[in-house]
Amino acid sequence: MGKEFFHDFLYPRQVVLVTAATSEKANVTAAEWVSPVSEKPPAIALSLANSSLTLELMCASMEFVVAIPDERLKDAVLLCGTTSGKIIDKFEEGKLTPVKASRVSAPLVKEAKANLECKVLSYQSVGSHTLVVGEIIEVHGQKEEEEGHSLLFNQGGKRLFEIKA
Ligand SMILES: Cc1cc2nc3c(=O)[nH]c(=O)nc-3n(C[C@H](O)[C@H](O)[C@H](O)COP(=O)(O)O)c2cc1C
Repeated sequence: MGKEFFHDFLYPRQVVLVTAATSEKANVTAAEWVSPVSEKPPAIALSLANSSLTLELMCASMEFVVAIPDERLKDAVLLCGTTSGKIIDKFEEGKLTPVKASRVSAPLVKEAKANLECKVLSYQSVGSHTLVVGEIIEVHGQKEEEEGHSLLFNQGGKRLFEIKA
């Protein structure tokens, strides 16, 4: 197996939605290369392809939101992860409702079970992708009884898209 496929050994992984916006445009994408990286300050890291519109908006605004989808958003997550905001409006096509965040320009996703507002602490190119570290400055979560299951993405050896609730 080619070493570029090393990450096939690291599945399944949780999938999140990531939003970012400038005054001209807001966008949302699916991301699975995501991890908590600090408790104090609370921080999260994600890695986005250099071609991603979300990455471009994130680096321009230095802000983003990580929205946690449940299984009800499976179709929207697949749409967000298979098309670029350069081509379509993913909020509209995915039936996702952007809601004004309290402290960042990026919108919350109304249908998500939780939304984390983040400020970019750093970003660094790692080749094909850029590693972004963000401090979580606000958390919006729904009551436990209203929560659905998080989504897991299983790329596996055949690299097929499969999301399990
Ligand atoms: C379930 C799933 C998870 C994904 N995770 C990532 C990821 O962590 N990083 C990444 O760069 N692309 C990831 N992608 C692909 C991007 O979402 C995709 O390239 C998207 O079209 C980029 O959109 P944008 O240009 O609007 O930002 C994922 C796709 C799917 C379906």
